[in-house]
Amino acid sequence: MSKMLPIAAALFFFYAAVALSGAASSKAAMVEHTFVVKQVYMRHLCNDTLVTVVNGQFPGPPVEATEGDTVVVHVVNESPFEITIHWHGVKQRLTCWADGAGMITQCPIQPNTTFTYRFNVDGQVGTLWWHAHVSILRATLHGIIVIRPKSSSYPFQKPHVDVPIIIAEWWQRDLMKVDKNFSMGGSFSDNPAAATINGKLSDLYNCSGVREDNFVLNVEHGKTYMLRLVNAALFSEYYFKVADHKFTVVGSDANYVRPYATDVVAVAPGETIDVLMVADAPPCRYYMVALANQPPAPDPQIPVFMSRGIVQYRGIPLDADKCRNEPLMPEMPDQHDTLTTFYFHGNLSGLPGHPLLPKIQGRVDEHLFISLGKGSICKGNKPSCRRGGNPESIEVAYMNNVSFRLPEKMSLLEARHYGKMNGADAAVVVQDLPSRPPRAFNYTDPALIPVVPGGELERLEATRKATTVRRFAHNATVEVVFQSTSTMQSDSNPMHLHGHDFFVLAQGHGNYDPAKDVSSYNVVDPQMKNTVQVPRLGWAAIRFVADNPGAWFMHCHFEFHIAMGMATVIEVANGPMLGDTLPPPPSDLPKCENKKN
Ligand code: C2O
Repeated sequence: MSKMLPIAAALFFFYAAVALSGAASSKAAMVEHTFVVKQVYMRHLCNDTLVTVVNGQFPGPPVEATEGDTVVVHVVNESPFEITIHWHGVKQRLTCWADGAGMITQCPIQPNTTFTYRFNVDGQVGTLWWHAHVSILRATLHGIIVIRPKSSSYPFQKPHVDVPIIIAEWWQRDLMKVDKNFSMGGSFSDNPAAATINGKLSDLYNCSGVREDNFVLNVEHGKTYMLRLVNAALFSEYYFKVADHKFTVVGSDANYVRPYATDVVAVAPGETIDVLMVADAPPCRYYMVALANQPPAPDPQIPVFMSRGIVQYRGIPLDADKCRNEPLMPEMPDQHDTLTTFYFHGNLSGLPGHPLLPKIQGRVDEHLFISLGKGSICKGNKPSCRRGGNPESIEVAYMNNVSFRLPEKMSLLEARHYGKMNGADAAVVVQDLPSRPPRAFNYTDPALIPVVPGGELERLEATRKATTVRRFAHNATVEVVFQSTSTMQSDSNPMHLHGHDFFVLAQGHGNYDPAKDVSSYNVVDPQMKNTVQVPRLGWAAIRFVADNPGAWFMHCHFEFHIAMGMATVIEVANGPMLGDTLPPPPSDLPKCENKKN
């Protein structure tokens, strides 16, 4: 991580607020930042690449807060692009307007304009992150959010040092063009140039013999380090290991988990995983490695992406030549191993006693079964066309065979607020997300992976484009079963819901079968998450209480999946009390009329 100034600023405001109020230090403070979004050149792999970043940094500045604080971020858009910033995992209770989901909760911040996000971080402790939420600019527009407990007491031994580990990618392509390509069915040459850890490509990458820098973590023997892992990558889930070291997973998505010992972490795009690592190995140098996984062929293959940092002990004996030259490498899982992530995620559970637990153990008001896959639409809005890879059709991604279309004239939340949804003078036309797929099939049949004319897949491909929503009464208990399918690919799907955390009840391989799978639900100590990794060729079941009024995006966090339409919106009604009602929009919310296109 580069400059630490923003933390100093945050601390200043913290102390200033405490001093002014004269109150006890438990009083909530304000954490204020200015994010200047700008294009700069960064040099890697012998190329100067123009990238869009915040305050000249990649990754962007950290936001550090204490539970209950108010966060205020002034976004100054000096880039040529429309921008929004989403605070991934922040619950935004009654502040849906500050969620930053482009065209869902706001129109983007136009070039040369400013918008201020204001929200609290209440009832959440741990690691979250922020990222742009318009097209794929989040590749370089992202950073960590750290929320510390009020009393600075953790339900585990307090770590000596906190270390953000942001896994991302370095792109040398015009990202706007890549985004366009995705909406046209994608192109397999649109790959990142490298994986990164905290912005460093690492010595695995070189150009003309000059090696790229590694992220270096200096450690002292016997101390405990809290590694806060964020997967900010557009594309892949990553395995993370440090040679000769073990981890205890203690948190994920700003919720504590029951301490879980492991030597490998799997982190899917959108997820955060907090682990404790004790520096208990002989003083030496050890590689920390992030390796992208992917399904094996016949799924389309992308190059192997890996990055590594160095854990470097203080006081390495002078005669320890071995580790002075080349640090030790951990033994990584195979890049096609998709079982390690299945077990890693399946082995996590929450700390018991969550206040919402009794609610999800009771009556379930709404059930959704959502198939996640790829299909096709006909070019030029034709009612029918040849599919199975035929150029008459365009590949899209879907939920229950509907591929999400972003509103264009007005954000969905504004349309709802001003009564401009559907009807005669509608600015946004929405349809209900179907409760189940249009027809049942063997969702995980490997024969559906290859895109070939005349196959079974062709009959299942037909998909339509629509802006789908699903409306829930205030406080409804909702169960969603996500089913990954093998249509055209057999990827996992990291599904993310805005504005709510959910309980992960169970996951499994194959097709979800309520008759036998409901009995495997964990309703005792399920983990609380905002992103669930729905296994490849499998399913995951979640439950949440729709208690936060607004319009909340729900989508796969693989960028190509969201760009291709694997998304929908959850609309939650206001409650009967004023304290359950979404206030009107802030007066400086960007105006949609100013949109360029
Ligand atoms: Cu990480 Cu819709 O977001």
